[in-house]
Amino acid sequence: MGDGTLSTEPILHIENLHKEYDNPVTLVLNNVSFDLFREDFLCILGPSGCGKSTLIRCIAGFEKYSGTIEVDGKRVESPGSDRTMVFQDFNQLFPWITVINNIAYPLKINGMKDKAERLKKAETYLNKVGLSEYRDYYPHQLSGGMKQRVAIARAMALGSRIILMDEPFAALDAMSRNQMQDELLRIKEGEGMTVLFITHNIQEAITLGNRIMVMGNSGNIIEHMENPIEKPVTPASPGYSELWKHLNRLLRNECQLEKGQ
Ligand SMILES: Nc1ncnc2c1ncn2[C@@H]1O[C@H](COP(=O)(O)OP(=O)(O)OP(=O)(O)O)[C@@H](O)[C@H]1O
Ligand SMILES: [Mg+2]
Repeated sequence: MGDGTLSTEPILHIENLHKEYDNPVTLVLNNVSFDLFREDFLCILGPSGCGKSTLIRCIAGFEKYSGTIEVDGKRVESPGSDRTMVFQDFNQLFPWITVINNIAYPLKINGMKDKAERLKKAETYLNKVGLSEYRDYYPHQLSGGMKQRVAIARAMALGSRIILMDEPFAALDAMSRNQMQDELLRIKEGEGMTVLFITHNIQEAITLGNRIMVMGNSGNIIEHMENPIEKPVTPASPGYSELWKHLNRLLRNECQLEKGQ
């Protein structure tokens, strides 16, 4: 359970991170450094193609990189259950097994031998995301948002230290998106989760993040700030429109630089 205070030891430590793709040769991440602390909700904004997904893939352990990425002091070299990606794509569950088994089965793979214990844990986390009554449904019988909540429950049951989300709500309509934002904040607060969240949407970053980072076209960080707006955030919150304009200006400048204007 979260106690509302952020610890001083980072869960995730990134220093001088560079990432270059070979084919074609492209420098995508350029000297990226930041820390993520327990219970942080860090939102990353940036123009298309600036390297946001590459960054999250490096943290997830899917890419080679130079520089430092450490989780709890250990260098990231491959994927691990301490970090879980929740995708925008809703088909991230095993379609042939029920919701409860989608959470319980990875626990088995992870070495939890006792079946009753696995099911109990899966039920606990399904309950936390408000989907207990769907335990025996198959993924195709759920809405997209529900599938994402199952994926979050699975990550939490596996004991993930960090949830990595790459534009998870981009495909949703505005109303479902607002609902999912509320839901995610509720789960996050209740569980004391640590989240790194990529979005194109300034409103989303201001609503969700306790910190906001903006990446520029050169794969560098051009802004990294505490979110000064108190939760729950609404467009009427004091300071909202100033912050929105500030972030919008930064993003617009990057897009204009891109076009050489
Ligand atoms: N496997 C790859 N090989 C070569 N280049 C790649 C590869 N994956 C991505 N890139 C390049 O890296 C750059 C950053 O891509 P990335 O997907 O990280 O951007 P992004 O910020 O997530 O963009 P978007 O907002 O559109 O999702 C792009 O120029 C892209 O063409
Ligand atoms: Mg991307």
